[in-house]
Amino acid sequence: MSERAVRLTQAGGPDVMQVQTVEVGDPGPGEIRIRQKAAGLNFIDIYQRSGVYDIPMPSGLGLEGAGVVEAVGEGVTHLRVGDRVAYASQPIGAYATARVMPARCVVRLPDGLSFAQGAAMMLKGLTVQYLLRKTLPPGGLQAGDAIVFHAAAGGVGLIACQWAKALGLRLIATAGSDAKCELALAHGAAVAINYQRENFADRVKEITGGEGVKVVYDSVGASTFEGSLACLRPFGLMVSFGNASGKVPPVPITALATKGLYLTRPSIFHHLSSREATQAMADDLFQVVSSGQVKISVEQRYALEDVQRAHREMESRSTTGAGVLMLD
Ligand SMILES: NC(=O)c1ccc[n+]([C@@H]2O[C@H](COP(=O)([O-])OP(=O)(O)OC[C@H]3O[C@@H](n4cnc5c(N)ncnc54)[C@H](OP(=O)(O)O)[C@@H]3O)[C@@H](O)[C@H]2O)c1
Repeated sequence: MSERAVRLTQAGGPDVMQVQTVEVGDPGPGEIRIRQKAAGLNFIDIYQRSGVYDIPMPSGLGLEGAGVVEAVGEGVTHLRVGDRVAYASQPIGAYATARVMPARCVVRLPDGLSFAQGAAMMLKGLTVQYLLRKTLPPGGLQAGDAIVFHAAAGGVGLIACQWAKALGLRLIATAGSDAKCELALAHGAAVAINYQRENFADRVKEITGGEGVKVVYDSVGASTFEGSLACLRPFGLMVSFGNASGKVPPVPITALATKGLYLTRPSIFHHLSSREATQAMADDLFQVVSSGQVKISVEQRYALEDVQRAHREMESRSTTGAGVLMLD
């Protein structure tokens, strides 16, 4: 079967991504073939394309998608031909009109959700699931607790604003423009700070009456790391889960000493290590979405052929919320 897919032979700028004709075969044991309808755009795709994260070349790109199961390999029992499905999963290669992949981390997409929503919510929504539900300070988080969430108007960020509100948390958002701050507030953030204009650590201290917060969820990396530590109260948790502004340089352990802080650097793929764990996290996500507490809106849609533009817009911080490649 001849299909279209984004391929790259070397790391670099957006122009290393080329749409090519590729052959897609039949699924082997434990695999399925998906007729893809939409693929999610994620900042990790930019790290992998640009060489911030090394990937073997030549390569496809993309880790999130939604579509219809077209063929099922031996031993796959939880999915059938014709099922509407979605995933956030390795191996890389979601920017493609069809693909063969392990069935293990693919789940059924609830009927009320479109393929575009499925492709927009799995990697980002499951990330928020493990952050707000499992990546917690000693004693956990209680309703009324304040947390800081950076880049809150982005794909992961807008889901986090809504889910935090549903949990009763006071999410202090940061974002790179006043319009983005408004968007975060409209999605449930309690307060929003434009960190291009204001010193966010000073503002967080002010907002919390000098106490600081129990957790900072920081995906911006190099430019925010130090300020994030300053936002924390004693025994607070620093969750460094991304590097949109560049990798965090090595941190001396003594940086944690003044307040006895905890530091973690998690990845979603550790959480999605088994089918059972993936399904349980997805069920939690689907529940909060079906209850209406978290709405999945797709802010940017592109054709596969416009993938270079999609990456340019995301890298230049001109996007908000989630973006997808539409594949048919
Ligand atoms: N560890 C994990 O498991 C995991 C899983 C999923 C995502 N992530 C991370 O979560 C973050 C959000 O992912 P996403 O796909 O939803 O992306 P996104 O938030 O839609 O886009 C990244 C945002 O980072 C902010 N940013 C700050 N400094 C930047 C800079 N120098 N260059 C570019 N952007 C900058 C921008 O928002 P402002 O303009 O508002 O600053 C930008 O919109 C990424 O860092 C990603 O790697 C981690």
